[in-house]
Amino acid sequence: MKPLRLALTKGRLEQKTVDLFRQLGFDCSELEEKGRKLIIPIPGSGLEVVLAKAADVTTYVEYGACDLGIVGKDTILEQGGSFFEMADLGFGRCRFALAGPKDVDFYAGYNIKRIATKYPTVARRFFAGKTMDVDIIKIEGSVELAPLLGLADAIVDIVETGATLKENGLEIIEIIAELSARVIVNAASLKLRKQEIETLLEKIERVRGEK
Ligand code: PRP
Repeated sequence: MKPLRLALTKGRLEQKTVDLFRQLGFDCSELEEKGRKLIIPIPGSGLEVVLAKAADVTTYVEYGACDLGIVGKDTILEQGGSFFEMADLGFGRCRFALAGPKDVDFYAGYNIKRIATKYPTVARRFFAGKTMDVDIIKIEGSVELAPLLGLADAIVDIVETGATLKENGLEIIEIIAELSARVIVNAASLKLRKQEIETLLEKIERVRGEK
């Protein structure tokens, strides 16, 4: 039987997933010494892994190029897409938050506020929920710079330890959502390879329960 193909988000979630796979007894040697190889077999697991950027993980899974994926809830909320979210892996924990300069009342005044973010969809939805009109400016990284440079009144961004906010004189105004790594599954794969996928998810649940 051909292996299940799993899209894994490169970077922060990658090492934590390798740790999880090791706990499951999978041989991760190729995954750890992968060089430039893009499709990596995981002997003994029935899986092969594709390393991809977060936004591509959801795309590969939605279109069935990969059967399943491991991706942050942040990407799921921002990108959306048609797939099943099957498990919360409990690592990669952080939050989406609205944050701004310390000791400034963000909601004061009648001017339309400017919000800088890497996550315009999440930000738009958050303010729509408040029926508050804002200007959203898309930034690609180090979003915390925007209020410091006078580009924005506040940011919608990921907060993990809170150190970046603190070191730059910013603070959380409101928490928007709790985030962590999730397992997503392609709809057709879930039907056609139900048994294998469920077995894998049960194994994951078991080792997570042991912690
Ligand atoms: C993320 C996020 C914050 C920071 C939060 O950025 O956008 O900037 O981490 O972490 P902290 O609360 O522990 O300080 P990342 O490092 O991914 O880089 P980027 O800002 O360039 O996207």
